[in-house]
Amino acid sequence: MDEVADVVIEAGRIARIGRDAAAGLSGEKIRVLDVAGRWVVPGFVDLHAHFREPGYEYKEDVASGLRAAAAGGFTGVCVMPNTKPINDTRAITEMMMARGRAAAGPRLYPFAAATVGSAGEQLTEMADLRDAGAIGVSDDGKCLMNAAVMRAALEYARTFDMLFSQHCEDHDLTAGAQMHEGHVSTRLGLQGWPRAAEDVIVARDLILAELTGARYHVAHVSSLGAVRLLREAKSRGLAVSAEVTPHHLLLTHDALIGFDTACKVNPPLREPEDIAALREALRDGTIDCIATDHAPHSPLEKQCEFAAASPGMIGLEPAVPLLLDLVRDGLLSPMRLVEALSTKPARLGKLEGGTLKAGSVADLAVIDPERRWTISQASLSSRSSNTPFLNKEVRGKAILTMVAGQIVYES
Ligand code: NCD
Repeated sequence: MDEVADVVIEAGRIARIGRDAAAGLSGEKIRVLDVAGRWVVPGFVDLHAHFREPGYEYKEDVASGLRAAAAGGFTGVCVMPNTKPINDTRAITEMMMARGRAAAGPRLYPFAAATVGSAGEQLTEMADLRDAGAIGVSDDGKCLMNAAVMRAALEYARTFDMLFSQHCEDHDLTAGAQMHEGHVSTRLGLQGWPRAAEDVIVARDLILAELTGARYHVAHVSSLGAVRLLREAKSRGLAVSAEVTPHHLLLTHDALIGFDTACKVNPPLREPEDIAALREALRDGTIDCIATDHAPHSPLEKQCEFAAASPGMIGLEPAVPLLLDLVRDGLLSPMRLVEALSTKPARLGKLEGGTLKAGSVADLAVIDPERRWTISQASLSSRSSNTPFLNKEVRGKAILTMVAGQIVYES
């Protein structure tokens, strides 16, 4: 829906929604939030973030990650298993869930590893992990390279109704790669990651997804070839899905020219024709949703020579203003933006929220599309500030985030 309306929330759920739905309500127990002129949206749901607990809490822990999520308008966050130890056992999944509950903020949904140690050889105990709270499986950061193991992983994921999210990278084709393979990598003298390394895995996986009928999801699509393959698969009715990050929609490999390690990310920033394909695919639904791939790193991993720097950038708090730039440039409609950040990812993950329908859980955010703020270490709730947009003045901010009717962020 896209209209001027009242939203009435009772006992953690949306009781009524519509023009004048709150008319006549009064009483001491009622709190009125006047957000006229702002956007009330179903809370955003991120299918792809990295909180670093356990193991790398100096970069982010569950509590700081959830604070960053709330400040970004997110009411649900799926966290990847590349912690230390890797989340390949019930104990780690349960620990993450417990930390999430204790934080009393946005909902935390762990992805468990698909293979033990994310080593790509032996499947994890998916039923056990699902019972502990994992909503899907992924070896994110690493691609499941062995096709036979991948087939088995998809069969098991299907049996236990878990989403399989694949980091599509043929590691043999990207050995030593620092950035996208193209004229900029040639000029900088850095080893390149060719698009083909992404495309060959997407092609193989779509064939295996068709074979197994699993809920297969392509993480952080970055290449035009992958988009083409997804479009073909979807045109045949395959129930596969994909996400794109804000940075892949906005930045090209040119951003690496000054060797800025904040722009080092996996998959790498590519070329204008990739961006054009990604934007078109997001508009037409070939790419279902936007995920941040929030990947916090400390100065230890970023203020060093390019080859030694860890890949990744934070994304939860910059997402709204960056994506609103696409809306302001007429490249994305507000409705499609909200669908891609909320409704679609919630459905794909079979998660709470993603709707403002009467009767549904009151997970929502209020966005002020005009609020100006500066992305800075001081303004970020995340423990890390590794983003190429640091110290930039931006426009648009979540000013209130609510989970099950409780305000978890207000500014
Ligand atoms: C991810 C991280 O930091 O965990 N980094 C990234 O650039 N996306 C892992 C990964 O996908 O390499």
